[in-house]
Amino acid sequence: MKKIKIIFVCLGNICRSPAAEGVMKKLVHDKGLDDFIFIDSAGTIPYHAGEDPDPRMKLYAKKRGYALTHVARKFNQKDLTDFDYIIAMDRENYDYIKSLDRTNKFADKIYMMTDFCTSVNADEVPDPYEGGPEGFETVLDILEDACAGLLKKLSQKS
Ligand code: 4NP
Repeated sequence: MKKIKIIFVCLGNICRSPAAEGVMKKLVHDKGLDDFIFIDSAGTIPYHAGEDPDPRMKLYAKKRGYALTHVARKFNQKDLTDFDYIIAMDRENYDYIKSLDRTNKFADKIYMMTDFCTSVNADEVPDPYEGGPEGFETVLDILEDACAGLLKKLSQKS
């Protein structure tokens, strides 16, 4: 069976999207669904390509049981065809992805992360990079809710 392929996208690919990847991977693993779902992440800027996740994001994720192992890379045109779910952390990331989809061919698979929230009230995953610890906790609160909602949606579909 063909795996469902999901990519999470933020600006630098060192805070929010690798955290989304880590949270989703754990959920999928814990449900025994590794063989059915492939998960990746990428950034809209290339500056941090090749880097590990931000140490602050790693720390707060680890405290909740998530290991972040992604190596940063830039989102590219091929990702538009390769992935089934392309999920942006904020409106700017979303607009960037949409700008690569010039003919609107992939519109049906481009989402906002918060589209999948079921209990947290948020319309974006806010950039935590310049802020303090609470920013990273907020990111994880939103991601945990959204990833659970996403997995539920996938389970209902298949
Ligand atoms: P991310 O956070 O998009 O969640 O990975 C950021 C990482 C780096 C920068 C901004 C946000 N930066 O300006 O370098």
